[in-house]
Amino acid sequence: MKFAKMTEVAHYAPSQVITNDDLAEIMDTNDEWISSRTGIKSRHITYDENTSDLCIKIVKSLLEKSNYSPESIDFLIVATISPDSLMPTTATITQGKTGLVNAFAFDMQAACSGFVYALSLGEKLIASGRYQRGIIIGAETHSKTLDWNDRSTAVLFGDGAGGVLLEAATSQHFLAEKLQADGIKGTALASKSFYPKSPYSKKFEHNEKLLMDGRSVFDFAVREVPQNILATLELAGIEPNEIDYYLPHQANIRIIDKWPKKLKVDRDKFLVNLEHYGNTSAASIPILLSEAIESGTLSFGSGQTVLMTGFGGGLTWGSLIIKL
Ligand code: ACO
Repeated sequence: MKFAKMTEVAHYAPSQVITNDDLAEIMDTNDEWISSRTGIKSRHITYDENTSDLCIKIVKSLLEKSNYSPESIDFLIVATISPDSLMPTTATITQGKTGLVNAFAFDMQAACSGFVYALSLGEKLIASGRYQRGIIIGAETHSKTLDWNDRSTAVLFGDGAGGVLLEAATSQHFLAEKLQADGIKGTALASKSFYPKSPYSKKFEHNEKLLMDGRSVFDFAVREVPQNILATLELAGIEPNEIDYYLPHQANIRIIDKWPKKLKVDRDKFLVNLEHYGNTSAASIPILLSEAIESGTLSFGSGQTVLMTGFGGGLTWGSLIIKL
């Protein structure tokens, strides 16, 4: 039996910080509304970078930290819903610019569950025994896709990236997972579509901006995610309190605050940094992990057990339980 483990993590956020007060200067909103409804105080918004620029920083940082050569990486998966382009993918642009000449590379779209989905897939690639080493990145430049005239969505999101180095291991680190999807409810979160405009095809209706039924996404997250977490814990044979830290997708503090009560665990077990980042979709969990490693709260090789849980567009959601 083959196993995989995370051995390094890195994150990057554009240097430009936009506060709630800054947003109030360009749209009809205010710090009180945004803070009390979401917990967000500021977010990083890129001035001139595309998603691959963020990914390149992550790859370089992971290679530097690990001392591995670019040639030694077998695959690169980028989870994003704000790619540079549909083709070439953000992953291949990144691969080409970082010298990962032996890596296959592709993007994965699972919205805010993207990193959890991609990490799960990366683990299977290594557990298959065919690949030794891969990089999994969650990266977004949401600022280029948002409708800045729509205050109900523009205030929620931020730009950033995070990623991990995944390597073959001699013991089990990925203890359990449960990934889910419900396409029937997919219209609750929808963004620009690339539908054909051929004169020979039916023209489909499509929206040019992010549309979100905030209330139904909120209710979905509060209802479904704890059930998913409990199901994942049951698969691992672990009690909720035995998890050292929960790393939830950072969408809204009011959503996260409801989960500890449902799981009957200490609120301090849930790591949070959305105050300074907003919702960075696929990037939120690896940024959170990277900050927790930097601060010493978590460390690779410690034997700590963490549960990552993502949820978002699709609808998609899912959890992974990982021993560090
Ligand atoms: N500033 C000021 N007022 C605003 C703003 C704003 N930025 N945005 C909306 N409003 C107003 C609306 O116009 C509306 O006014 P009205 O009542 O006069 O019509 C009112 O505020 C809406 O308030 P509520 O319905 O009470 O807002 P709610 O408490 O539902 O909060 C929110 C909205 C924050 C979007 C919440 O529903 C939410 O967080 N939902 C989940 C969204 C989410 O997590 N999305 C991301 C997950 S998926 C992914 O990450 C891709």
